[in-house]
Amino acid sequence: MYSPGKNIVITGFMGTGKTSVGRRVAKELNMRFVGTDGLIEKEAKMPISEIFAQFGEGQFRKLESMVIGEVSARTGAVISTGGGAIINPLNLKALKRNGIVICLTASVNAILSRIGKSNERPLLSLSNKEEIISDLLKEREPSYKKADFIIDTTTKGIKEVVNEILKIAGSMQ
Ligand code: S3P
Repeated sequence: MYSPGKNIVITGFMGTGKTSVGRRVAKELNMRFVGTDGLIEKEAKMPISEIFAQFGEGQFRKLESMVIGEVSARTGAVISTGGGAIINPLNLKALKRNGIVICLTASVNAILSRIGKSNERPLLSLSNKEEIISDLLKEREPSYKKADFIIDTTTKGIKEVVNEILKIAGSMQ
């Protein structure tokens, strides 16, 4: 069984499948799965939407950096982050210290159709979702490009993306 010394970090824009892909990769490689958004909710004892509503994005980002600091200190996990995590270069640096960072991307239309009408993501809760996604993607592109690997998931299903990550993981041995 493949057992890397490093974490496999899955990051990228909202709606690119980070959590579903991360869980499957962890299962395939018999590694722990860690989702930073879930840990943030546990820490704050409330859903992310509530953290944003009550305390604002700044407080969410502080909790996010704290959780990333904790999870990057250990190895042997598949870590899925929230879509804005690596925009802060310090978070990216922490994640790269013990891990390879794989960024999932997708076209605006693919993201739009995957997130559907859901309003659970505070940054995409307004009606002009398409414009917000397009602007945020452009703004974040330079940060996403700093990942070790980028996988465009626009035309790919979860299984295909998982297989690409398993290939990358295999090449790290
Ligand atoms: C965010 C993405 C969300 C969550 C928070 C902020 C972002 O995670 O961390 O709402 O800034 O892109 P997902 O990418 O898992 O939706």
